[in-house]
Amino acid sequence: MSSLEEPLGMDKLPSLSTVDLFHRFSSNGCSTSGVERCWVEGNTSTSSNDDKADFEYVQGVFAWRHHARDTPQNGNHAAYRNQCDSRHLASRQHNSYCNDVGLQNITNMIFKGIPKYVKIVEVGARDGLQNEKNMVPTSVKIELIQRLVSTGLSVVEATAFVSPKWVPQLADAREVIEALKNMDTTRLPVLVPNLKGLEAAVAAGAKEIAIFASASESFSKSNINCTIEESFSRYRAVVNAATKLNIRVRGYVSCVIGCPVEGMIFPSKVAHVAKELYDMGCSEISLGDTIGIGTPGTVISMLGAVMSVVPVEKLAVHFHDTYGQSLPNILVSLQMGISIVDSSIAGLGGCPYAKGASGNVATEDVVYMLHGLGIQTNVDLGKLLQTGEFICKHLGRRSGSKAAIAFSQI
Ligand code: HMG
Ligand code: MG
Repeated sequence: MSSLEEPLGMDKLPSLSTVDLFHRFSSNGCSTSGVERCWVEGNTSTSSNDDKADFEYVQGVFAWRHHARDTPQNGNHAAYRNQCDSRHLASRQHNSYCNDVGLQNITNMIFKGIPKYVKIVEVGARDGLQNEKNMVPTSVKIELIQRLVSTGLSVVEATAFVSPKWVPQLADAREVIEALKNMDTTRLPVLVPNLKGLEAAVAAGAKEIAIFASASESFSKSNINCTIEESFSRYRAVVNAATKLNIRVRGYVSCVIGCPVEGMIFPSKVAHVAKELYDMGCSEISLGDTIGIGTPGTVISMLGAVMSVVPVEKLAVHFHDTYGQSLPNILVSLQMGISIVDSSIAGLGGCPYAKGASGNVATEDVVYMLHGLGIQTNVDLGKLLQTGEFICKHLGRRSGSKAAIAFSQI
């Protein structure tokens, strides 16, 4: 059994004192009112002095579940979806059991400091479709992006200007961007691996790009055919040229928890790569668990290290869902102050150069969770579910979103 077939446990974490980091970079360090939470060497221990409130909170959650199931549907999925748009869910939850001041207090304690608004970066049209065995027609890609935009998403990663020999699935990048270049309500960044990619992206009408480095030397070689150090000089040239053109650049770091070849990646290595990208001028750094092996324990360590060198508001998390850990990983990231989350419609995705990696966390599931927490996204869950249905129908595949499957069965 390879080291990556087991989830990484607390006992496998590298030594990293996150206590100091929390106090420096996050507004939600140790809370003292009622619940004491201490972060020690990547470990979290929580003790409550109000077990009764805890119990009521859990009961409240289940009470809501019955409530939702009892809602009359008239057999109409669309109506139910609208009703179940989590904006409704959030307010219903609050109405039904947030009158209790004690309950409100415990909710505040648990979620103290998590953002009120989360920006979702939809990556399905790029990260998702780059991994499809069969070519998806350009017209379907364009319609997918238009539908994603209509859900209210503010950032939809559209495609990648990479070598068509390496990623033939996205060889129609120019046509996709040309068809969408007049869309000004939503940002449509594209992946670019070098100056050639930047030139092609700009010529097609792209207004925003993303570069992608790795914290694993082996993955850097297999993904972009150069060392990490070489990628820095390549990307520095790209960022300089993009900045002159007023083009915003996002920077990805892949393999932030582990690599299919090298195994565990140390948080300090991730922090080093993230800082290089940030210092060269990237406006946002997305931390990619490319093969989806992270757990909340390892994510805390990694984020703690990165947050010591890059401001938390500039960081995004990008979880592939191979081991089903994405939602808890996102939750713990929010608790650490992260407010930008990457996700993919219907859970599409994977990287052609990361064998065994599954799709990204599904956008529908992320939106469902965030709205359930009362966090705003400006995304319409009903429209998102319809968009997921649209692409799954074209791919002839069941959705990778648990929420979408559940809604479709009601
Ligand atoms: P190379 O073969 O080392 O480069 O590829 P090269 O400069 O020798 O070029 C080889 C050929 O590609 C030449 O064509 C170039 O012109 C052409 P030829 O002369 O043989 O006909 N070429 C290009 N064509 C179009 N657009 C370009 C371009 N550049 C060169 N931009 C290269 C190096 C980086 C280009 C290649 O390795 C590549 O394209 N890699 C992309 C791999 C990729 O897209 N991976 C998936 C995205 S990353 C990801 O999914 C992770 C992420 O989601 C985060 C996470 O989950 O962790 C972001
Ligand atoms: Mg990815």
